[in-house]
Amino acid sequence: MKNVVESNIKKMAFQVARNTFFKEYPEHFKDLCERALNTSKTKEIPFLHSKVNGLILPPYMTEEQVRIYTTFQTRPGDVFLVTYPKSGTTWLAEIIRCIAQPKESDKENLIGGPVPTFDMATQEQLEAVPSPRYMSTHLPFSLLPRSSEHEVKYIYLARNPKDVAVSYFHFSSMPFLNFDGTWEEFLQYFMKGNIPGGSYFDHVLEWWSHQDDENILFLKYEDLKKDLKSQVKIIAEFLGFKFSDEEAKAVVKQCTFQAMKSNSNQDISKFVDKLFKKGSHLRKGIVGDWKNHFSDEQLEEFDKLYQSRLNGTGLKFEFQSVAE
Ligand code: A3P
Repeated sequence: MKNVVESNIKKMAFQVARNTFFKEYPEHFKDLCERALNTSKTKEIPFLHSKVNGLILPPYMTEEQVRIYTTFQTRPGDVFLVTYPKSGTTWLAEIIRCIAQPKESDKENLIGGPVPTFDMATQEQLEAVPSPRYMSTHLPFSLLPRSSEHEVKYIYLARNPKDVAVSYFHFSSMPFLNFDGTWEEFLQYFMKGNIPGGSYFDHVLEWWSHQDDENILFLKYEDLKKDLKSQVKIIAEFLGFKFSDEEAKAVVKQCTFQAMKSNSNQDISKFVDKLFKKGSHLRKGIVGDWKNHFSDEQLEEFDKLYQSRLNGTGLKFEFQSVAE
C-alpha cells in the first residue's frame, strides 16, 4: 500500500514537472514520458521497464519501437555512440558534438542532448537530421541496424562496472525508473541483469567481441579520465577529422566534468536534474566512487562475478581514481 501511495506521489510530481518544464519539449518526448509512466514494476524487476524478446529495456521502448529501430535505414556516414546506461553517454555525445559540430546549437537535437538519442527519437526526426548523423543509443549490438558495406561507424564507451552500478543506483530513483529500494537491493538486481538495459556484462562483452571490427571504436571511460586529449584525437581520427593538438585541447576544455556542469547547453542534464529529488545527472564524474558504496562482502561477490564473466576475454578495467 505504502509503495502504491509513494508511486502515485512520484507520478503526480512527474506530471507537475511535465506540465511546467516539459512544455518546452516536443510532444513526442512527452509521449515517451507518459509511456514510461504507464509501464509497471514487477517483483523480479522493480524498475519501470519494457521487455522485448526477453531483453529488459528502458520503459519508453516498446516492442513496436524496437522493431522500427532494427529496420532503420542507415546512411553512409552514420555514427552510433553506444553505451550501457550510466557509462558516460552524455560525455561522449558532448565530445562528438565539439569535434563534429562545434558551431551548431543543440536546440534541434533536443531529444537526448548534444546528439539525438536514437532510442527516443522518431524515424521522421532522425530522417530530418542531415548527414553525417551522430546518434546515441543503449541498444545491444544484436539490435542495432548494421550495414554490410561498413558504411556505419560505432563508438562504444565502456565504464568499469562498479562505478556504473553506483551511478545507476543514484539515477534509478528518478520517476522514469522509480526504483525505491536500497543500494544493497539494487546491487543484486544489477548483478543479475534484472534492470533496464539488461546485463551490463552481456552488453559490454557483445560489443567487445567486435572491438577489432574496422568500423567499431571501443573506448573506456577511465582512459578518457586519464588522458582526454589523446582520446579526443583518437575519436577525431576515427571520424575522419585531422585534429591538431590545439584543436584537441579546445575540445578538452569544453568537455571536462566542471566545464560540462556549468555549460548552459547541457539541456539533457538539466532535464534529468529536474527529475531527481536530490543529486544530479552530472553527479561526481570520477573513477572510484564505488569505494564509498560497496561493503567488503559485496565486493567479494561482485569480484567473483566480474572474474567469471571477464576472465579470458581480454577486457579489463581500471578501478582506481586517477588525476584529471
Ligand atoms: P556519476 O553518476 O558517477 O557521476 P550517462 O550519461 O551514460 O547517463 O552517464 C552519466 C555518468 O557520466 C555520471 O557519472 C556523470 O557524472 C558522468 N559524466 C558525464 N559527463 C562527464 C564528464 N565530462 N567527465 C566525467 N564524467 C562525466
